[in-house]
Amino acid sequence: MKNSKIAIIGGGNLGIAIAEGLLKSVFAQPSQITVTRRTLSRIEFLKEKGVTITDNNAQAIATSEIIIVALKPYNVKDVLASLKDQFDPKKHVVISVVTGISLQELASIVGNDISLFRAMPNTAIAIQQSVTCVCTTNGTRQQADFVTDLFNNLGITIAIDEKLMDAATVLGACGIAYALRFIRAATQGGIEIGFDAKTANLISAQTVKGAAELLLQLGRHPEEEIDKVTTPKGCTIVGLNEMEHQGFSSSLIKGISSSYKKIQS
Ligand SMILES: NC(=O)c1ccc[n+]([C@@H]2O[C@H](COP(=O)([O-])OP(=O)(O)OC[C@H]3O[C@@H](n4cnc5c(N)ncnc54)[C@H](OP(=O)(O)O)[C@@H]3O)[C@@H](O)[C@H]2O)c1
Repeated sequence: MKNSKIAIIGGGNLGIAIAEGLLKSVFAQPSQITVTRRTLSRIEFLKEKGVTITDNNAQAIATSEIIIVALKPYNVKDVLASLKDQFDPKKHVVISVVTGISLQELASIVGNDISLFRAMPNTAIAIQQSVTCVCTTNGTRQQADFVTDLFNNLGITIAIDEKLMDAATVLGACGIAYALRFIRAATQGGIEIGFDAKTANLISAQTVKGAAELLLQLGRHPEEEIDKVTTPKGCTIVGLNEMEHQGFSSSLIKGISSSYKKIQS
């Protein structure tokens, strides 16, 4: 499967980010990648990098083995239904990154005999820093290894049960927005205490990156690292406790819970 051709159906925000991540990785050559959408002018820049672009989904599927579906939830069923006859169970593996459309729903459109995966990446996939949660019901071990390898080239991959896909969407995909809002707020605070906006933003972003790397690289618990920087009666603990008095952790947990309720409604 290593040299399979990959078609990304729906070259919007996420579809483009996946293509950009693949281009930066060693996983696929540009000539192995096709991206489709109706407004081709928006993905002309991918063509300049050697990617095939087309508004012909059927052709993209016919010339590829791995089909990544990155359409919006509201039109995925109609578009896939119109392409139903293009899918070949002996040839194709379909990976849907569409929010809220189950493997069962996908199978009812493209056929039960097609190997189907759902994947939930986030937009950091463009720089190979996504966390991508993946599930399947009928993919073979070899196909699952291939899909894991693909997304490992674009960040890290975690195999989950499909019942956790909504939770993965909130924590991983929406999580990018929560983290960015934290950085923006920290930047606003940084400006208030004396930095220009650009410097405050750089300090805030790199600090969040460093904090995350402490956990990822050293396997530490967040509170263990917090203890190291909270001197008794010092400025960090005073600020941190004030944030908690104002509902910092609670508002984050409530926000995640609200996003989850919304996705399930
Ligand atoms: N953005 C994220 O962070 C993220 C994360 C995880 C999962 N997702 C999921 O990924 C999916 C895509 O999200 P997105 O943010 O990338 O949306 P998006 O920017 O709207 O991308 C969807 C693309 O599909 C194209 N399209 C529509 N009809 C088409 C057709 N018949 N054939 C080929 N292309 C067609 C649209 O372009 P044209 O109008 O030019 O055709 C559009 O650019 C959604 O289901 C979303 O839930 C998104």
